[in-house]
Amino acid sequence: MANYDVIVIGSGPGGYVCAIRCAQLGLKTACVEGRDTLGGTCLNIGCIPSKALLHSTHMLHEAEHNFAKMGLKSSAPKVDWKQMMAFKQETIDGNTKGIEFLFKKNKIDWLKGWGSIPAAGQVKVGDEVHTAKNIIIASGSEPSSLPGVEVDEKTVITSTGALDLPKIPKKMVVIGAGVIGLELGSVYKRLGAEVTVIEYLNAITPGMDAEIQKTFQRTLKKQGMTFIMGAAVQKTEALKTKAKVTYKLRKDDSEHEIEADVVLVATGRKPYTDGLGLEALGVEMSPRGQIKVGRDWQTNVPGIYAIGDCIDGPMLAHKAEDEGMAAAEQCAGKHGHVNYGVIPGVIYTAPEVANVGETEESLKEQGRAYKVGKFNFMGNGRAKAMLAAEGFVKILADAETDRILGAHILGPNAGDLIHEICVAMEFGASAEDLALTCHAHPTLSEAVREAALALGDGPIHS
Ligand code: NAI
Repeated sequence: MANYDVIVIGSGPGGYVCAIRCAQLGLKTACVEGRDTLGGTCLNIGCIPSKALLHSTHMLHEAEHNFAKMGLKSSAPKVDWKQMMAFKQETIDGNTKGIEFLFKKNKIDWLKGWGSIPAAGQVKVGDEVHTAKNIIIASGSEPSSLPGVEVDEKTVITSTGALDLPKIPKKMVVIGAGVIGLELGSVYKRLGAEVTVIEYLNAITPGMDAEIQKTFQRTLKKQGMTFIMGAAVQKTEALKTKAKVTYKLRKDDSEHEIEADVVLVATGRKPYTDGLGLEALGVEMSPRGQIKVGRDWQTNVPGIYAIGDCIDGPMLAHKAEDEGMAAAEQCAGKHGHVNYGVIPGVIYTAPEVANVGETEESLKEQGRAYKVGKFNFMGNGRAKAMLAAEGFVKILADAETDRILGAHILGPNAGDLIHEICVAMEFGASAEDLALTCHAHPTLSEAVREAALALGDGPIHS
Protein backbone atom coordinates (compact mmCIF):
# COMPACT_ATOMS: atom_id res chain seq x y z
CA MET A 1 0.00 0.00 0.00
CA ALA A 2 1.24 3.47 -0.86
CA ASN A 3 0.04 7.06 -0.75
CA TYR A 4 0.01 9.09 -3.93
CA ASP A 5 -0.94 12.55 -5.07
CA VAL A 6 -2.54 11.07 -8.18
CA ILE A 7 -3.51 7.58 -9.30
CA VAL A 8 -4.46 7.28 -12.96
CA ILE A 9 -6.58 4.26 -13.90
CA GLY A 10 -5.72 3.05 -17.40
CA SER A 11 -2.51 3.49 -19.40
CA GLY A 12 -3.85 4.28 -22.88
CA PRO A 13 -2.87 7.56 -24.57
CA GLY A 14 -5.14 9.45 -22.15
CA GLY A 15 -3.86 7.72 -19.02
CA TYR A 16 -0.13 7.45 -19.71
CA VAL A 17 0.16 11.04 -20.98
CA CYS A 18 -1.77 12.23 -17.93
CA ALA A 19 0.53 10.25 -15.59
CA ILE A 20 3.66 11.65 -17.23
CA ARG A 21 2.38 15.24 -17.03
CA CYS A 22 1.39 14.72 -13.35
CA ALA A 23 4.91 13.51 -12.59
CA GLN A 24 6.45 16.39 -14.53
CA LEU A 25 4.38 18.78 -12.44
CA GLY A 26 5.90 17.29 -9.27
CA LEU A 27 3.02 15.04 -8.21
CA LYS A 28 3.69 11.57 -6.79
CA THR A 29 1.98 9.45 -9.40
CA ALA A 30 0.93 5.86 -10.06
CA CYS A 31 -0.85 4.36 -13.05
CA VAL A 32 -3.00 1.22 -12.83
CA GLU A 33 -2.93 -1.14 -15.80
CA GLY A 34 -4.20 -4.73 -15.93
CA ARG A 35 -2.83 -5.65 -19.36
CA ASP A 36 0.62 -7.22 -19.59
CA THR A 37 1.84 -4.14 -21.44
CA LEU A 38 1.22 -0.40 -21.14
CA GLY A 39 -0.44 1.71 -23.85
CA GLY A 40 -4.07 0.56 -23.78
CA THR A 41 -6.15 -0.12 -26.87
CA CYS A 42 -4.25 2.39 -29.03
CA LEU A 43 -0.81 0.85 -28.68
CA ASN A 44 -1.80 -2.81 -28.25
CA ILE A 45 -4.87 -3.45 -30.40
CA GLY A 46 -5.72 -0.19 -32.16
CA CYS A 47 -3.97 2.79 -33.72
CA ILE A 48 -0.39 1.52 -33.67
CA PRO A 49 -0.80 -2.08 -34.96
CA SER A 50 -3.31 -0.90 -37.59
CA LYS A 51 -0.80 1.70 -38.80
CA ALA A 52 1.88 -0.99 -39.12
CA LEU A 53 -0.47 -3.01 -41.35
CA LEU A 54 -1.65 0.05 -43.26
CA HIS A 55 1.96 1.02 -43.94
CA SER A 56 3.13 -2.42 -45.04
CA THR A 57 0.11 -2.97 -47.30
CA HIS A 58 0.49 0.55 -48.74
CA MET A 59 4.06 -0.40 -49.66
CA LEU A 60 2.66 -3.51 -51.35
CA HIS A 61 0.20 -1.34 -53.27
CA GLU A 62 3.01 0.97 -54.37
CA ALA A 63 5.09 -2.00 -55.55
CA GLU A 64 2.16 -3.52 -57.44
CA HIS A 65 0.78 -0.35 -59.00
CA ASN A 66 3.41 2.38 -59.13
CA PHE A 67 6.92 0.89 -59.12
CA ALA A 68 6.96 0.00 -62.83
CA LYS A 69 5.78 3.51 -63.73
CA MET A 70 8.73 4.92 -61.77
CA GLY A 71 11.12 2.63 -63.57
CA LEU A 72 11.50 0.13 -60.77
CA LYS A 73 11.15 -3.24 -62.40
CA SER A 74 10.93 -6.52 -60.51
CA SER A 75 8.28 -9.08 -59.81
CA ALA A 76 5.74 -7.80 -57.26
CA PRO A 77 6.57 -8.72 -53.64
CA LYS A 78 4.91 -11.80 -52.16
CA VAL A 79 3.11 -11.40 -48.87
CA ASP A 80 4.66 -13.29 -45.96
CA TRP A 81 1.72 -12.99 -43.55
CA LYS A 82 3.64 -14.41 -40.59
CA GLN A 83 6.39 -11.84 -41.06
CA MET A 84 3.88 -9.04 -41.55
CA MET A 85 2.29 -10.01 -38.23
CA ALA A 86 5.75 -10.17 -36.63
CA PHE A 87 6.49 -6.65 -37.93
CA LYS A 88 3.19 -5.50 -36.44
CA GLN A 89 4.12 -7.10 -33.09
CA GLU A 90 7.59 -5.54 -33.10
CA THR A 91 5.97 -2.15 -33.70
CA ILE A 92 3.65 -2.72 -30.73
CA ASP A 93 6.49 -3.93 -28.49
CA GLY A 94 8.74 -0.99 -29.35
CA ASN A 95 5.99 1.44 -28.43
CA THR A 96 4.72 -0.25 -25.26
CA LYS A 97 8.28 -0.68 -23.94
CA GLY A 98 8.82 2.99 -24.72
CA ILE A 99 6.01 3.90 -22.32
CA GLU A 100 7.49 1.62 -19.66
CA PHE A 101 10.79 3.47 -20.06
CA LEU A 102 9.03 6.85 -19.78
CA PHE A 103 7.27 5.68 -16.59
CA LYS A 104 10.62 4.71 -15.04
CA LYS A 105 12.24 7.95 -16.18
CA ASN A 106 9.44 9.97 -14.60
CA LYS A 107 9.31 7.77 -11.45
CA ILE A 108 5.72 6.70 -12.05
CA ASP A 109 4.70 3.48 -10.30
CA TRP A 110 2.92 0.95 -12.53
CA LEU A 111 0.33 -0.73 -10.29
CA LYS A 112 -0.20 -4.01 -12.15
CA GLY A 113 -3.76 -5.30 -12.11
CA TRP A 114 -7.31 -4.06 -12.65
CA GLY A 115 -8.23 -1.15 -10.43
CA SER A 116 -11.43 -0.25 -8.63
CA ILE A 117 -12.41 2.68 -6.45
CA PRO A 118 -13.83 1.45 -3.11
CA ALA A 119 -14.16 5.06 -1.87
CA ALA A 120 -13.10 8.54 -2.94
CA GLY A 121 -9.36 8.80 -2.37
CA GLN A 122 -8.79 5.03 -2.58
CA VAL A 123 -7.84 2.71 -5.43
CA LYS A 124 -7.84 -1.07 -4.96
CA VAL A 125 -5.53 -3.15 -7.15
CA GLY A 126 -5.53 -6.86 -6.32
CA ASP A 127 -5.61 -7.08 -2.51
CA GLU A 128 -3.93 -3.74 -1.97
CA VAL A 129 -5.68 -0.47 -1.35
CA HIS A 130 -3.68 2.63 -2.25
CA THR A 131 -4.61 6.18 -1.37
CA ALA A 132 -4.53 9.22 -3.62
CA LYS A 133 -5.54 12.86 -3.29
CA ASN A 134 -6.89 12.67 -6.82
CA ILE A 135 -7.98 9.75 -9.00
CA ILE A 136 -8.15 10.09 -12.76
CA ILE A 137 -10.18 7.50 -14.67
CA ALA A 138 -8.87 6.86 -18.17
CA SER A 139 -10.42 3.45 -18.70
CA GLY A 140 -11.16 3.91 -22.42
CA SER A 141 -13.69 2.13 -24.58
CA GLU A 142 -14.57 -1.23 -26.11
CA PRO A 143 -16.33 -2.24 -29.36
CA SER A 144 -20.08 -1.77 -29.02
CA SER A 145 -22.30 -4.73 -29.75
CA LEU A 146 -25.00 -4.98 -32.39
CA PRO A 147 -28.23 -6.89 -31.73
CA GLY A 148 -28.24 -10.25 -33.56
CA VAL A 149 -24.48 -10.14 -34.06
CA GLU A 150 -22.36 -12.46 -31.94
CA VAL A 151 -18.64 -11.78 -32.06
CA ASP A 152 -16.40 -14.86 -31.72
CA GLU A 153 -13.19 -13.07 -32.89
CA LYS A 154 -12.72 -15.90 -35.43
CA THR A 155 -15.28 -15.48 -38.23
CA VAL A 156 -17.23 -12.60 -36.72
CA ILE A 157 -14.60 -10.19 -35.47
CA THR A 158 -14.02 -6.71 -34.08
CA SER A 159 -10.93 -4.61 -34.83
CA THR A 160 -9.10 -6.71 -32.21
CA GLY A 161 -9.60 -9.89 -34.23
CA ALA A 162 -8.93 -8.09 -37.52
CA LEU A 163 -5.44 -7.21 -36.30
CA ASP A 164 -4.66 -10.82 -35.50
CA LEU A 165 -6.16 -13.01 -38.23
CA PRO A 166 -4.40 -16.35 -38.77
CA LYS A 167 -4.60 -15.88 -42.55
CA ILE A 168 -5.74 -13.39 -45.16
CA PRO A 169 -9.45 -13.97 -45.88
CA LYS A 170 -10.62 -14.33 -49.48
CA LYS A 171 -13.85 -12.55 -48.76
CA MET A 172 -14.51 -10.03 -46.01
CA VAL A 173 -17.71 -8.23 -45.12
CA VAL A 174 -17.32 -5.06 -43.08
CA ILE A 175 -20.32 -3.80 -41.10
CA GLY A 176 -20.06 -0.02 -40.77
CA ALA A 177 -18.33 2.46 -43.12
CA GLY A 178 -16.69 4.41 -40.29
CA VAL A 179 -13.01 4.89 -39.55
CA ILE A 180 -12.26 1.33 -38.39
CA GLY A 181 -14.19 -0.35 -41.21
CA LEU A 182 -12.50 1.68 -43.92
CA GLU A 183 -8.96 1.51 -42.51
CA LEU A 184 -9.00 -2.24 -41.87
CA GLY A 185 -11.10 -2.89 -44.98
CA SER A 186 -8.33 -1.13 -46.95
CA VAL A 187 -5.66 -3.33 -45.39
CA TYR A 188 -7.37 -6.55 -46.49
CA LYS A 189 -8.40 -5.13 -49.88
CA ARG A 190 -4.74 -4.39 -50.61
CA LEU A 191 -3.87 -7.92 -49.51
CA GLY A 192 -6.22 -9.29 -52.15
CA ALA A 193 -9.44 -9.90 -50.23
CA GLU A 194 -12.79 -9.11 -51.78
CA VAL A 195 -14.16 -6.46 -49.41
CA THR A 196 -17.84 -5.50 -49.14
CA VAL A 197 -18.84 -2.72 -46.75
CA ILE A 198 -22.41 -2.60 -45.47
CA GLU A 199 -23.43 0.82 -44.14
CA TYR A 200 -26.68 1.86 -42.47
CA LEU A 201 -26.56 5.46 -43.70
CA ASN A 202 -26.44 6.69 -47.30
CA ALA A 203 -22.98 8.20 -46.87
CA ILE A 204 -19.71 6.85 -45.48
CA THR A 205 -17.82 8.35 -42.50
CA PRO A 206 -20.72 10.00 -40.67
CA GLY A 207 -20.26 13.63 -39.68
CA MET A 208 -17.63 14.42 -42.30
CA ASP A 209 -17.87 17.12 -44.96
CA ALA A 210 -20.29 15.77 -47.60
CA GLU A 211 -17.99 16.58 -50.53
CA ILE A 212 -15.19 14.60 -48.89
CA GLN A 213 -17.58 11.72 -48.15
CA LYS A 214 -18.55 11.46 -51.83
CA THR A 215 -15.04 11.79 -53.28
CA PHE A 216 -13.58 9.45 -50.67
CA GLN A 217 -16.18 6.78 -51.40
CA ARG A 218 -15.50 7.12 -55.14
CA THR A 219 -11.77 6.66 -54.47
CA LEU A 220 -12.35 3.55 -52.35
CA LYS A 221 -14.67 2.10 -55.00
CA LYS A 222 -11.96 2.69 -57.61
CA GLN A 223 -9.60 0.73 -55.36
CA GLY A 224 -12.02 -2.19 -55.58
CA MET A 225 -14.11 -1.88 -52.41
CA THR A 226 -17.83 -2.64 -52.79
CA PHE A 227 -20.44 -0.68 -50.83
CA ILE A 228 -23.97 -1.62 -49.85
CA MET A 229 -25.44 1.64 -48.58
CA GLY A 230 -28.62 2.32 -46.63
CA ALA A 231 -28.57 -1.21 -45.28
CA ALA A 232 -29.32 -2.22 -41.70
CA VAL A 233 -27.61 -5.42 -40.60
CA GLN A 234 -30.11 -7.70 -38.87
CA LYS A 235 -27.95 -10.60 -37.78
CA THR A 236 -24.87 -12.69 -38.43
CA GLU A 237 -24.65 -16.48 -38.30
CA ALA A 238 -21.42 -18.39 -37.91
CA LEU A 239 -21.37 -21.25 -40.43
CA LYS A 240 -18.73 -24.01 -40.43
CA THR A 241 -15.87 -21.94 -41.79
CA LYS A 242 -17.70 -18.82 -42.91
CA ALA A 243 -20.29 -16.40 -41.62
CA LYS A 244 -23.55 -15.20 -43.11
CA VAL A 245 -24.81 -11.61 -42.76
CA THR A 246 -28.48 -10.75 -43.14
CA TYR A 247 -29.32 -7.12 -43.87
CA LYS A 248 -32.37 -5.09 -44.85
CA LEU A 249 -32.26 -2.31 -47.44
CA ARG A 250 -33.87 0.69 -45.81
CA LYS A 251 -35.39 2.03 -49.03
CA ASP A 252 -37.74 -0.95 -49.57
CA ASP A 253 -37.28 -3.10 -46.46
CA SER A 254 -36.12 -6.02 -48.65
CA GLU A 255 -34.01 -8.66 -46.90
CA HIS A 256 -30.70 -9.91 -48.33
CA GLU A 257 -27.90 -12.25 -47.33
CA ILE A 258 -24.19 -12.23 -47.98
CA GLU A 259 -21.51 -14.76 -46.99
CA ALA A 260 -17.87 -14.13 -46.18
CA ASP A 261 -14.85 -15.87 -44.62
CA VAL A 262 -14.68 -13.08 -42.08
CA VAL A 263 -17.17 -10.44 -40.95
CA LEU A 264 -15.69 -7.34 -39.33
CA VAL A 265 -18.09 -5.53 -37.01
CA ALA A 266 -17.10 -1.84 -36.96
CA THR A 267 -20.23 -0.08 -35.78
CA GLY A 268 -18.75 2.10 -33.09
CA ARG A 269 -17.29 1.84 -29.60
CA LYS A 270 -18.72 2.41 -26.12
CA PRO A 271 -17.15 3.61 -22.86
CA TYR A 272 -15.51 0.91 -20.76
CA THR A 273 -16.11 1.44 -17.05
CA ASP A 274 -16.81 -2.11 -15.84
CA GLY A 275 -15.61 -3.06 -12.38
CA LEU A 276 -14.57 0.43 -11.31
CA GLY A 277 -17.37 0.61 -8.73
CA LEU A 278 -18.74 3.90 -10.06
CA GLU A 279 -22.36 3.12 -9.24
CA ALA A 280 -21.67 2.51 -5.55
CA LEU A 281 -19.66 5.74 -5.46
CA GLY A 282 -22.59 7.65 -6.95
CA VAL A 283 -20.59 8.91 -9.96
CA GLU A 284 -23.04 10.46 -12.42
CA MET A 285 -23.22 8.80 -15.84
CA SER A 286 -24.88 9.88 -19.10
CA PRO A 287 -27.59 7.69 -20.66
CA ARG A 288 -24.91 6.55 -23.16
CA GLY A 289 -22.76 5.14 -20.35
CA GLN A 290 -20.24 7.98 -20.36
CA ILE A 291 -18.85 9.37 -17.11
CA LYS A 292 -20.17 12.90 -16.66
CA VAL A 293 -17.52 15.54 -15.95
CA GLY A 294 -17.41 19.28 -15.50
CA ARG A 295 -15.19 21.77 -17.33
CA ASP A 296 -12.28 20.69 -15.10
CA TRP A 297 -12.80 16.96 -15.96
CA GLN A 298 -13.93 16.35 -12.36
CA THR A 299 -16.93 14.11 -11.78
CA ASN A 300 -19.66 14.94 -9.28
CA VAL A 301 -17.51 13.14 -6.66
CA PRO A 302 -14.73 15.54 -5.59
CA GLY A 303 -11.25 14.22 -6.31
CA ILE A 304 -12.41 11.79 -9.02
CA TYR A 305 -11.71 12.91 -12.59
CA ALA A 306 -12.31 11.21 -15.94
CA ILE A 307 -10.81 11.72 -19.41
CA GLY A 308 -10.73 10.16 -22.88
CA ASP A 309 -13.09 7.65 -24.47
CA CYS A 310 -15.02 7.05 -21.21
CA ILE A 311 -16.35 10.65 -21.25
CA ASP A 312 -18.22 12.64 -23.92
CA GLY A 313 -16.61 13.70 -27.21
CA PRO A 314 -14.83 12.08 -30.15
CA MET A 315 -13.14 8.78 -29.30
CA LEU A 316 -9.69 9.83 -30.45
CA ALA A 317 -6.33 9.11 -28.82
CA HIS A 318 -5.14 12.72 -29.21
CA LYS A 319 -8.33 14.13 -27.65
CA ALA A 320 -7.67 11.83 -24.67
CA GLU A 321 -4.02 12.95 -24.51
CA ASP A 322 -4.99 16.62 -24.42
CA GLU A 323 -7.55 15.95 -21.70
CA GLY A 324 -4.92 13.94 -19.82
CA MET A 325 -2.50 16.86 -19.80
CA ALA A 326 -5.25 19.33 -18.87
CA ALA A 327 -6.59 17.15 -16.01
CA ALA A 328 -3.02 16.76 -14.69
CA GLU A 329 -2.68 20.52 -14.65
CA GLN A 330 -5.98 20.83 -12.74
CA CYS A 331 -4.68 18.36 -10.12
CA ALA A 332 -1.50 20.45 -9.81
CA GLY A 333 -3.53 23.60 -9.13
CA LYS A 334 -3.08 25.00 -12.64
CA HIS A 335 -5.67 25.74 -15.30
CA GLY A 336 -5.78 22.96 -17.88
CA HIS A 337 -7.56 23.74 -21.12
CA VAL A 338 -8.66 21.82 -24.23
CA ASN A 339 -9.96 23.62 -27.33
CA TYR A 340 -12.60 21.15 -28.51
CA GLY A 341 -13.15 23.26 -31.63
CA VAL A 342 -9.72 22.38 -32.98
CA ILE A 343 -9.36 18.61 -32.71
CA PRO A 344 -8.25 17.08 -36.00
CA GLY A 345 -9.57 13.75 -37.26
CA VAL A 346 -7.59 11.52 -39.60
CA ILE A 347 -8.39 8.35 -41.54
CA TYR A 348 -5.15 6.59 -42.45
CA THR A 349 -6.21 5.09 -45.76
CA ALA A 350 -4.40 5.95 -49.00
CA PRO A 351 -5.10 8.71 -49.81
CA GLU A 352 -5.53 9.89 -46.24
CA VAL A 353 -8.49 11.94 -45.07
CA ALA A 354 -8.10 14.71 -42.49
CA ASN A 355 -10.44 17.30 -41.10
CA VAL A 356 -10.67 19.97 -38.45
CA GLY A 357 -13.38 22.38 -37.36
CA GLU A 358 -16.61 23.11 -39.16
CA THR A 359 -18.02 21.38 -42.25
CA GLU A 360 -20.06 23.13 -44.93
CA GLU A 361 -23.09 21.31 -43.52
CA SER A 362 -22.52 22.47 -39.93
CA LEU A 363 -22.01 26.08 -41.09
CA LYS A 364 -25.22 25.97 -43.14
CA GLU A 365 -27.02 24.65 -40.08
CA GLN A 366 -25.69 27.57 -38.03
CA GLY A 367 -26.74 29.98 -40.79
CA ARG A 368 -23.18 31.34 -40.87
CA ALA A 369 -21.98 33.00 -44.09
CA TYR A 370 -18.81 31.26 -45.29
CA LYS A 371 -16.59 30.97 -48.34
CA VAL A 372 -14.77 27.94 -49.73
CA GLY A 373 -11.17 27.79 -50.98
CA LYS A 374 -10.27 24.60 -52.79
CA PHE A 375 -7.15 23.28 -54.46
CA ASN A 376 -6.69 19.94 -56.22
CA PHE A 377 -3.49 17.96 -55.69
CA MET A 378 -3.35 17.68 -59.51
CA GLY A 379 -1.88 21.18 -59.44
CA ASN A 380 0.82 20.25 -56.90
CA GLY A 381 4.19 19.31 -58.40
CA ARG A 382 5.36 17.21 -55.48
CA ALA A 383 2.15 15.12 -55.41
CA LYS A 384 2.59 14.43 -59.12
CA ALA A 385 6.18 13.34 -58.57
CA MET A 386 4.89 10.90 -55.95
CA LEU A 387 2.15 9.54 -58.27
CA ALA A 388 -0.27 10.66 -55.58
CA ALA A 389 -2.04 13.65 -57.13
CA GLU A 390 -5.51 12.49 -56.11
CA GLY A 391 -7.78 14.57 -53.87
CA PHE A 392 -7.96 18.16 -52.69
CA VAL A 393 -7.57 20.64 -49.87
CA LYS A 394 -10.66 22.59 -48.92
CA ILE A 395 -10.59 25.45 -46.43
CA LEU A 396 -13.72 27.11 -45.06
CA ALA A 397 -13.48 30.71 -43.89
CA ASP A 398 -15.89 33.28 -42.53
CA ALA A 399 -17.32 35.26 -45.46
CA GLU A 400 -16.83 38.57 -43.72
CA THR A 401 -13.75 38.25 -41.51
CA ASP A 402 -11.82 35.62 -43.53
CA ARG A 403 -11.18 33.73 -40.27
CA ILE A 404 -10.51 30.03 -40.89
CA LEU A 405 -13.43 27.94 -39.59
CA GLY A 406 -12.54 24.46 -40.81
CA ALA A 407 -10.53 22.41 -43.29
CA HIS A 408 -10.95 19.11 -45.08
CA ILE A 409 -8.20 17.31 -46.92
CA LEU A 410 -8.31 14.16 -49.03
CA GLY A 411 -4.87 13.41 -50.34
CA PRO A 412 -1.30 12.28 -49.70
CA ASN A 413 -0.13 12.87 -46.09
CA ALA A 414 -3.40 14.68 -45.31
CA GLY A 415 -2.95 13.66 -41.65
CA ASP A 416 0.25 15.69 -41.45
CA LEU A 417 -0.88 18.59 -43.64
CA ILE A 418 -3.91 19.34 -41.46
CA HIS A 419 -1.77 20.55 -38.57
CA GLU A 420 -0.66 23.87 -40.02
CA ILE A 421 -4.36 24.68 -40.34
CA CYS A 422 -4.91 23.57 -36.72
CA VAL A 423 -2.14 25.94 -35.57
CA ALA A 424 -3.59 28.74 -37.70
CA MET A 425 -7.03 28.14 -36.15
CA GLU A 426 -5.57 28.14 -32.62
CA PHE A 427 -4.14 31.58 -33.38
CA GLY A 428 -7.47 32.76 -34.84
CA ALA A 429 -5.78 33.24 -38.22
CA SER A 430 -7.45 34.43 -41.39
CA ALA A 431 -7.06 32.52 -44.66
CA GLU A 432 -4.93 35.44 -45.84
CA ASP A 433 -2.45 34.84 -42.97
CA LEU A 434 -1.95 31.32 -44.31
CA ALA A 435 -1.83 32.51 -47.92
CA LEU A 436 0.87 35.09 -47.11
CA THR A 437 3.07 32.53 -45.36
CA CYS A 438 5.97 31.36 -47.53
CA HIS A 439 5.74 27.61 -48.14
CA ALA A 440 8.76 25.62 -49.32
CA HIS A 441 8.71 24.29 -52.86
CA PRO A 442 8.16 21.55 -53.83
CA THR A 443 6.06 20.30 -50.90
CA LEU A 444 2.58 18.91 -50.42
CA SER A 445 2.01 21.79 -47.98
CA GLU A 446 1.88 24.15 -50.94
CA ALA A 447 -1.55 22.68 -51.69
CA VAL A 448 -2.73 24.02 -48.31
CA ARG A 449 -1.39 27.48 -49.16
CA GLU A 450 -3.04 27.36 -52.58
CA ALA A 451 -6.40 26.53 -50.97
CA ALA A 452 -5.88 29.58 -48.73
CA LEU A 453 -4.97 31.66 -51.81
CA ALA A 454 -8.20 30.43 -53.40
CA LEU A 455 -10.05 32.32 -50.65
CA GLY A 456 -8.41 35.55 -51.77
CA ASP A 457 -7.10 36.58 -55.17
CA GLY A 458 -6.91 32.99 -56.39
CA PRO A 459 -4.50 30.07 -56.45
CA ILE A 460 -1.55 30.13 -58.86
CA HIS A 461 -1.56 26.55 -60.12
CA SER A 462 -5.16 25.93 -61.12
P1 NAI B 1 -17.82 4.89 -36.41
O1 NAI B 1 -18.80 5.50 -35.50
O2 NAI B 1 -16.74 5.71 -37.02
O3 NAI B 1 -18.62 4.20 -37.65
C1 NAI B 1 -19.59 3.21 -37.45
C2 NAI B 1 -20.44 3.09 -38.70
O4 NAI B 1 -21.30 1.94 -38.58
C3 NAI B 1 -21.35 4.28 -38.95
O5 NAI B 1 -21.16 4.74 -40.26
C4 NAI B 1 -22.76 3.72 -38.71
O6 NAI B 1 -23.74 4.36 -39.49
C5 NAI B 1 -22.57 2.25 -39.11
N1 NAI B 1 -23.59 1.32 -38.53
C6 NAI B 1 -24.05 1.31 -37.26
N2 NAI B 1 -24.96 0.31 -37.10
C7 NAI B 1 -25.08 -0.33 -38.30
C8 NAI B 1 -25.85 -1.45 -38.79
N3 NAI B 1 -26.71 -2.12 -38.00
N4 NAI B 1 -25.71 -1.83 -40.08
C9 NAI B 1 -24.85 -1.16 -40.90
N5 NAI B 1 -24.09 -0.11 -40.48
C10 NAI B 1 -24.19 0.30 -39.21
O7 NAI B 1 -17.23 3.64 -35.60
P2 NAI B 1 -15.91 2.74 -35.79
O8 NAI B 1 -15.41 2.82 -37.19
O9 NAI B 1 -16.28 1.42 -35.24
O10 NAI B 1 -14.86 3.46 -34.85
C11 NAI B 1 -15.08 3.53 -33.44
C12 NAI B 1 -14.38 4.72 -32.83
O11 NAI B 1 -12.98 4.56 -32.89
C13 NAI B 1 -14.73 6.00 -33.53
O12 NAI B 1 -15.07 6.94 -32.57
C14 NAI B 1 -13.48 6.37 -34.25
O13 NAI B 1 -13.31 7.78 -34.32
C15 NAI B 1 -12.37 5.72 -33.42
N6 NAI B 1 -11.25 5.37 -34.28
C16 NAI B 1 -10.49 6.37 -34.81
C17 NAI B 1 -9.46 6.09 -35.67
C18 NAI B 1 -8.69 7.22 -36.27
O14 NAI B 1 -8.79 8.32 -35.77
N7 NAI B 1 -7.93 7.00 -37.34
C19 NAI B 1 -9.13 4.72 -36.06
C20 NAI B 1 -10.02 3.76 -35.48
C21 NAI B 1 -11.03 4.09 -34.61
